[in-house]
Amino acid sequence: MKGQESERILRLRGELYTRTDYIKPVFGEKIISYMGGRARHWDPKRSKLAAAILKGMDIMPIRQDSSVLYLGASTGTTVSYISDICIDGRIYAVEVSFESFYKLLSLAEKRKNIIPILEDANVPERYSFFVEKPDLIYQDIAQRNQVQIFNTNAATFPEVRKAILIIKTRSISSHQNERDILATALSGINGFTPVRSYNLSPYDQANYLVYLERV
Ligand SMILES: C[S@@+](CC[C@H](N)C(=O)[O-])C[C@H]1O[C@@H](n2cnc3c(N)ncnc32)[C@H](O)[C@@H]1O
Repeated sequence: MKGQESERILRLRGELYTRTDYIKPVFGEKIISYMGGRARHWDPKRSKLAAAILKGMDIMPIRQDSSVLYLGASTGTTVSYISDICIDGRIYAVEVSFESFYKLLSLAEKRKNIIPILEDANVPERYSFFVEKPDLIYQDIAQRNQVQIFNTNAATFPEVRKAILIIKTRSISSHQNERDILATALSGINGFTPVRSYNLSPYDQANYLVYLERV
């Protein structure tokens, strides 16, 4: 991976870890001592970002001071790793399901850089007023209109220059070939150009991670 961006991400004996400032695991994952600090195991089967890194993701746009707008935070598994990476930044974590949000809230109470938002990502004007200058959108919403949700948020936050978009091809169509669905989905994105895309198999089926930059 390029430059200082990857300093918080470690590869130890072929496995992925993040440097962490926290002692307790979030969901039972292994935490080890490393170079006078701690490192938290990052399972590619539980997090698509970890899967993409192991599949060769060579640009890591999330930096130590990034401000991330995370759409589809769920209970906070991947959010917790991004929280380890952007220790001097913050994550605005948007989740619509109250059940998932409840666990996300408990994670946010323990970590100072996670701001949980119980909202529908289709309606960014409901949270845009308190999301301060995000520089990156991370979206993982397995819905048929996932591209439309991305476009709406990208238009609402013009300061965002970079994005990571998880595209679940099976949420769009179950008939077409995966590559064709991905190409059609990407052609519907406004104002951003795809720079890299990663098929996450064998860690995750029918999901692609796409890294985009604003044109
Ligand atoms: C695949 S899960 C996300 C997993 C999570 N990103 C992770 O890696 O830990 C998708 C999440 O998107 C949420 N979601 C679906 N539609 C949404 C919407 N319109 N606004 C916000 N969240 C939504 C779902 O409730 C679900 O928790």
